[in-house]
Amino acid sequence: MSASVAVSTARAGHPRYASPQAREVRLAGILGFGGYVPERVVTNDDWAALVDTTDEWITTRTGIKRRRFAADDETTLDLAAAAAERAISNAGLESGDINEIIVATDTPEVYTPDTASFLQHRLGCGSVPSYDLAGSGCAGFVQALDTARTRVHFASRRVLVVGVELISRLMSWKDRATCVLFGDGAGAVVMGPGDAQAEVLDVVAGTDGSRWDILTLRTGGTRHPFTAEAAATGAHQKLEMKGGEVFREAVRRMSEAVADLLRRIDKTVADVALVIPHQANKRIIDAVRQRLGVDEGRVYVIVHEYGNTGSASVPLALWMAREEGAIKKGDLVALTAFGAGFHWAAAAIQF
Ligand code: ACO
Repeated sequence: MSASVAVSTARAGHPRYASPQAREVRLAGILGFGGYVPERVVTNDDWAALVDTTDEWITTRTGIKRRRFAADDETTLDLAAAAAERAISNAGLESGDINEIIVATDTPEVYTPDTASFLQHRLGCGSVPSYDLAGSGCAGFVQALDTARTRVHFASRRVLVVGVELISRLMSWKDRATCVLFGDGAGAVVMGPGDAQAEVLDVVAGTDGSRWDILTLRTGGTRHPFTAEAAATGAHQKLEMKGGEVFREAVRRMSEAVADLLRRIDKTVADVALVIPHQANKRIIDAVRQRLGVDEGRVYVIVHEYGNTGSASVPLALWMAREEGAIKKGDLVALTAFGAGFHWAAAAIQF
């Protein structure tokens, strides 16, 4: 696969960019894929024994049938490391070959420092720069992919990008409106120059901070510090979600992001072999599919098995699609995600 492409740097009317010469920009390759889900299966009936809900309600509203929860002795780091080790091995590399680590998560190992520091140490990657991309919920991994490709382009780094979530330990187990939606897991890719299994052709991303309040866990920061009262009421675990508004924004932003992405790379939906959307809810996925005009066979869905795994959902689905042979050489794959913020991001990947 071609490792470079000529890109014009000329921008009309701006002297700083007014070079008539094209420059060589390396495409960012994906060298390896990995993923991990914990063993413990929690069904809708298991939830029905704990809160006032039913398998029928959860299935019809969300499409989710079961999800995985981490074992009591597993932490975010364990999930991240398991996915990362698989991605590094799938790339034919060793941890010492990694030059940079980005971890997307909203459920970190500890509050400070970041999960990437723990992962760098666990993997034995040497003193490579490592940092988290936190707080952007389920859009985090695709945003991290966007950041990583610039590190490949401009610094020739081999970047390990992980999306991980262990939400079962931090969410409220009493709030039926949110607890039934989520699952734990991790997904990872290694990006870098050189022989790649796939190339990231382009990424589009955006944010509308005016919509921060449609999905927020507000207690614990400087605006609403964690207090004894918060602990007593469980406010620190209260994910506030305006479900209908999240639904509408998610459908609009995820479908528009793919359309925008395809315009930028001069392709149409007919050229896309597989869409891998954020796995929040089957009804959201179906609405995105209909808006894009893509048939069901070209959309990859795992939400029924694993629920919403936050930042892990897109890389986990990408890894699973690769593992089960749902992606072939020559396929164009579109990733699309949305998350609290409100953020959205989509990526075009050429296999
Ligand atoms: N079991 C039974 N009843 C429930 C449950 C539950 N688990 N949760 C809520 N209900 C009740 C509500 O209390 C409400 O009862 P009421 O009518 O007596 O007040 C009733 O069900 C209907 O609630 P709605 O919110 O209207 O249900 P809706 O059809 O909108 O579905 C849902 C709710 C699934 C959350 C939907 O709004 C949705 O999918 N929104 C998108 C949000 C999402 O997917 N978030 C994922 C996390 S965000 C992310 O990934 C970035």
